[in-house]
Amino acid sequence: MSQPTIESILNEKRQFPPSEEFSKNARIKSLEEYQALYDQAAANPEQFWEQLAEKELHWFKKWDKVLDWQPPNAKWFVGGQMNISYNCLDRHLTTHRKNKAALIWEGEPGDSRTLTYAQLHREVCQMANVLKDMGVKKGDRVGIYMPMIPEAAVAMLACARIGAAHTVIFGGFSAESLKDRLVDAQAKLVITADGGWRKESIVALKEQVDKALELGASSVEHVLVVKRTGQEIAMTPDRDQWWHELQPTASANCPAEPMDSEDLLFILYTSGTTGKPKGVVHTTAGYNLYTHVTLQWTFDLQETDVYWCTADVGWITGHSYIVYGPLSNGATTVMYEGAPRPSNPGCFWDVIEKYGVTIFYTAPTAIRSFIKMGDQHPNARDLSSLRLLGTVGEPINPEAWIWYAHVIGGDRCPIVDTWWQTETGGFMITPLPGAIATKPGSATRPFPGILAEIVDLDGSPVPANEGGYLVIKHPWPGMMRTVYGDPDRFRRTYWEHIAPKDGHYLYFAGDGARCDEDGYFWVMGRVDDVINVSGHRLGTMEIESALVSHESVAEAAVVGKPDEVRGEAIVAFLSLENGYEPSPELEKALKQHVVNEIGALARPTEIRFTEDLPKTRSGKIMRRLLRNLAAGEEIAGDTSTLQDRSVLDKLRSGG
Ligand code: WT7
Repeated sequence: MSQPTIESILNEKRQFPPSEEFSKNARIKSLEEYQALYDQAAANPEQFWEQLAEKELHWFKKWDKVLDWQPPNAKWFVGGQMNISYNCLDRHLTTHRKNKAALIWEGEPGDSRTLTYAQLHREVCQMANVLKDMGVKKGDRVGIYMPMIPEAAVAMLACARIGAAHTVIFGGFSAESLKDRLVDAQAKLVITADGGWRKESIVALKEQVDKALELGASSVEHVLVVKRTGQEIAMTPDRDQWWHELQPTASANCPAEPMDSEDLLFILYTSGTTGKPKGVVHTTAGYNLYTHVTLQWTFDLQETDVYWCTADVGWITGHSYIVYGPLSNGATTVMYEGAPRPSNPGCFWDVIEKYGVTIFYTAPTAIRSFIKMGDQHPNARDLSSLRLLGTVGEPINPEAWIWYAHVIGGDRCPIVDTWWQTETGGFMITPLPGAIATKPGSATRPFPGILAEIVDLDGSPVPANEGGYLVIKHPWPGMMRTVYGDPDRFRRTYWEHIAPKDGHYLYFAGDGARCDEDGYFWVMGRVDDVINVSGHRLGTMEIESALVSHESVAEAAVVGKPDEVRGEAIVAFLSLENGYEPSPELEKALKQHVVNEIGALARPTEIRFTEDLPKTRSGKIMRRLLRNLAAGEEIAGDTSTLQDRSVLDKLRSGG
């Protein structure tokens, strides 16, 4: 087992066509069918999406114009009105889906709950009414800081129902990070829980909310608290309310607010190349359509499927493919609170067996940790209900792909390797499993309507098999609309690195890739200062800012180094202020400091103290060299711009 190195992926020639059996029953049954859809969409993207919008969604009012494109600003289905919570709930109630399981939830301690579409609709309406009573109005922002429990989905849908934008903050983020996001979004209310279960201990969420408010999240007027773990928590009178006290008397009648297509649906913060995370903005109709169609075709959704995506609702994968995409399609979506842990390393396989999961969607880092835990765990369970597997988050190394196909998929399930981003809203490059033969390590071909290309910095296409920048040439309905409160950053970050080509703006969000002679895309990873740790995106600058905010640190440079399970691990090179000496205690304190500032997901694996950092003559830190050092590799490439060569020699010899 190893990292997805350029060599291992370049040597990967195996192809896995779908079985006849799978293709015969699939929604999209052949390469020809895919190609026809692709060509039709490429020739007229607007018409392609318009037809799907008409067929797949409910509208209160039809749009006047499909696309208004004033680069880099796109508006889709202009003048239309709809509500995504109506599309996810109400419209199923008049069909056979009324009493179908919408959400199957399994808690870490073994408790469970199933909500039918009718029951989920009822709870969402109740919470929507509670939010209104607590002063939330259309256009307000609501923070959601929740464990993986049904109420997390209820909260998102309740916001959408009344036209309040949610911003979900992953429960692993610290109070400090939570505060920054609540302040940026100017959230009026926070929905949280007393705690959540994580590897048999309680994550004290409400406590973090209290801290975030003390730290200065002053726009927050109220906190709505769901009881989950039951330990004693502080409740501030007038400010904090228990959901279980308000729910019994809350009306279950709450018509969905008609929303303009381009009304704000949610903000989701993601790391970029500066210290400050960006609020990625998604709007109503285009996002609904895009997540709906991409899930339906890519995961070949059938009425009887039991679909499980193991992501957390705090990430885009949870938004698009646990909540909105599946429910808009009337599917059964599984939500699991737990994680594989020493007392139950096979818990994922238990969930599959217990509920007869047919479609399973997880991340390469999880797959690599399953490999480490051993085949005996999946082998001891009945996984025969599975018919389709998916992966997302980082390039998957062919070895992990093959293991996934064999040990989990029983050599019978196609694997969809889905390339996309927080910014894209939904899948961009992915196999359609009945149509496209897969190659381990490749996300294969673009989804119909997505015009992807590999270009150089001037925006000119590069030849097949040559590396370059992965760009998208035409807007799509699920694309982000802007950076919340910072349209200029939106333009700079995504539309200006690569020159517009022949007047066409190219969307570029940081990945390097190549395209082979069959038109298959091979994503190699980020080409900016963003690292991918266990499928989570972290800006190196963000971690550096956290480190230098500690009194002992003079300067910090953070790089990723290859890691067998996590993909990348965080290595920090630090120089200390006068009066501080490197020590194991200081190292420990600094790691904890990063956890406090950002969250456990950003804890450095390794800290290396150094007198100086290698810099160019103009004072820029030469991260390339540090990456080589962190990985234990020879220094590659040119070092002639280095200001002081002795810095490098000292670093090589261990400080
Ligand atoms: C970055 C986006 C989209 C949900 C998960 C992460 C990397 C994502 C793949 C894949 C190769 C992938 C890219 C991308 N990435 N999926 N299938 N193959 N790389 O969302 O936090 O917005 O991160 O994850 O580098 O830019 P995100």
